[in-house]
Amino acid sequence: MVARRTVIKTGASAILAWLAKPLDGWALEPKVPAVPKPIILSTWKFGLQANEEAWKVIEKNGNSLDAVEQGVMLVEADPNERSVGYGGRPDRDGNVTLDACIMDHNANIGSVACLQHIVHPISVARAIMEKSPHVMLVGDGALKFALENGFKKENLLTEASEKEWREWLKTSEYKPIVNIENHDTIGMIALDTKGNLAGACTTSGMAFKLAGRVGDSPIIGAGLYVDGEVGAVTATGHGEEVIRVVGAHLVIEMMRQGKTPKKACKAAVELIKRKFDLRQKQTKDTQIGFIAINNLGEYGAFALRKGFYYAVKDATGNKLYKADYLVK
Ligand code: GLY
Repeated sequence: MVARRTVIKTGASAILAWLAKPLDGWALEPKVPAVPKPIILSTWKFGLQANEEAWKVIEKNGNSLDAVEQGVMLVEADPNERSVGYGGRPDRDGNVTLDACIMDHNANIGSVACLQHIVHPISVARAIMEKSPHVMLVGDGALKFALENGFKKENLLTEASEKEWREWLKTSEYKPIVNIENHDTIGMIALDTKGNLAGACTTSGMAFKLAGRVGDSPIIGAGLYVDGEVGAVTATGHGEEVIRVVGAHLVIEMMRQGKTPKKACKAAVELIKRKFDLRQKQTKDTQIGFIAINNLGEYGAFALRKGFYYAVKDATGNKLYKADYLVK
């Protein structure tokens, strides 16, 4: 005898299957637009220039992976951007150590942490993704891999960053106040003309951090996550707090459950705040921001505090937005 529940289940499955079948002359509502509308989002003000660089790839129908790599490379090479790449503030021993990762819509990933002497950690991350059997290399091993793959060894400590570090040494007081002045990862996410998503994230991490400290930026799932069936997310700000809730992946899962990109970012920020409260810690000197796009090209952002900006580029222009935030 067939149980009543099974009959009901079978009946329900049949109805669902019937509903999913296109009717003659009718098309089902597409999950992604028939003609994807490309879009690029980046963290902070320097995202504007980075977006323009990435758009050069997108407008030629290039892929989002190339676009995000090219985009963030611009910031990595800029000595005036003091928390990414060349010119980044060093750790407390005076060494500039870099974290970066890259991901495409098919879960291809590459990541590098605590890498020294290479101007473009994002390209090392991509080389790890494409040329190594692994997804993440750190420290000396990462440098060895980079040199073996044609990257040039360079001094990343500029005069300005060294001066600031020597000044810091006078007190050696470590009070990581996370804001745009001392900490601003470039995270970029993009949807290309074929509807494919990708993301990249790169930073020199917290100024005057302990040697060996790794933040969220190279941690796939924390600083960056891309799911071709859902969307792309990246984070900026206090990496330890983002890692604590596996932030970027959390936002992706919220979007998978139907939240808009902005609501998903907000939910992740709220969880981070809750973890602060549970540990009876203050959020006063902390900033965290998420940016997200879904595979329809809708986007959103949310931050813990006031002061987080993000740049959005599409065919209509390139604009800087102030993100909404949870606490003042
Ligand atoms: N969000 C970058 C870091 O904490 O290093």
